[in-house]
Amino acid sequence: MVLSNTSDDNVSVTPVNRLHGELRLPGDKSISHRAALIASLARGKSALQNFSTAQDCQATLECLKQLGVQLVNDGSNVVIAGVGANGFKQPEGELNAQNSGTTMRLLAGILAGQNFTSTITGDESLRSRPMLRLAEPLRLMGAKVELGPNDCAPVRITGQHPLKSIRYQPTIASAQLKSAVLLAGLTGDCDVTIKEQTRTRDHTELLLQTFGSSLNRTDNQIVLSGNNPLRACDVVIPGDVSSAAFFIAAAIALPGSNLVIHEVGLNPTRTAFLSKLTELGADINIANKRPQNGEPAGNLEVSSVPLKNKLPIVVAGSEVSSLIDELPLLAFLAAGIGCAMELRDAAELRVKECDRITATVENLKRMGALIVARDDGWSLAQGSQLHGAELNSFGDHRIAMSCAVAALTAEGSSNIEGGRGSVAVSLPEFWNLLEKVSG
Ligand code: S3P
Repeated sequence: MVLSNTSDDNVSVTPVNRLHGELRLPGDKSISHRAALIASLARGKSALQNFSTAQDCQATLECLKQLGVQLVNDGSNVVIAGVGANGFKQPEGELNAQNSGTTMRLLAGILAGQNFTSTITGDESLRSRPMLRLAEPLRLMGAKVELGPNDCAPVRITGQHPLKSIRYQPTIASAQLKSAVLLAGLTGDCDVTIKEQTRTRDHTELLLQTFGSSLNRTDNQIVLSGNNPLRACDVVIPGDVSSAAFFIAAAIALPGSNLVIHEVGLNPTRTAFLSKLTELGADINIANKRPQNGEPAGNLEVSSVPLKNKLPIVVAGSEVSSLIDELPLLAFLAAGIGCAMELRDAAELRVKECDRITATVENLKRMGALIVARDDGWSLAQGSQLHGAELNSFGDHRIAMSCAVAALTAEGSSNIEGGRGSVAVSLPEFWNLLEKVSG
């Protein structure tokens, strides 16, 4: 038994010896959001198979329904009747992106090119995240974007059609911002050129091509010209590699583990975590690798082997954005296996679903790790021996699942406050799947 309920929302985790078995994970969260939005922008019906069960993606579907998109959602299969780039209806009331930054920012791009005013809000966490970075390029394109207190949500958008063409060089490495500008270009019938200094996940670009757009890419430059009608398309969404990361980390830390995860997305903009672990000497094999609607996917087999070296894990500079969602997990894993870790240039973690620098450092300290917070990262000393503790999810799904990984490797059991509900944001099945492969 890995876990037991200590209250409705707290989870008690007891260490186990190994993870063993086979898993299949729901569809990638980032790809699911984009597939739903882009299918809505096409004309005709698109079937999206293995759609994410994440609450975040359900928020996207709810917003689309409020915008007049008809869809059928049977859990893992979603059929969307696309309305075309400018066929959305003005919603009654505010759109609620809940906890989902991707919903808020990508949808804002779409709304920038519509001829009506609408407002997107979210939960307390999302309403405290920065939105000026989103408003700036959309304003340059001609949309009116009004923000709430401290330049956060609610985001009130009065769209324009057509929008002005833009050459955009983001100052923050963010796939959400890049995607918002591309989707604005598509709905605003204008030309968009984006030059990324640091490459970020490219699911929007790949899906736009799958749905028939004439988007062009060379090195770090993306060009999308106006008048780009999309055609409906059926898509199979690969399993979420960021969800797989938690099971992979636990399997690596627990000796004697052997785990196969089927049909995982292996887009190179998302697999830096796997490369980092392989550098440490982890045994991760990829089998049956093949493209699925332009996205590489394959099966991952992970076996626990004694790590060749306990070199410190160092992450800084341009590597940060390719590991952005896995950085807390990397620290919890490093502490669990006694490695040191230095993280720099990652201040962006402070404005995720919670302040992930504080949440990581606070929880690891409670487990006995020697770790100090920096403004833009943390320093974790080598040789931690973790003990069970009272941990806190900070209401953040990735912090809850990272705590679970460390708790599995610790001496004695741990209690994760808010651990049960928070995982639903990206992987509602997390605790059941962990139970299934434990022992
Ligand atoms: C995401 C991009 C990243 C990531 C988030 C999902 C996306 O955010 O942290 O979980 O789907 O585009 P940023 O674009 O803000 O880095």
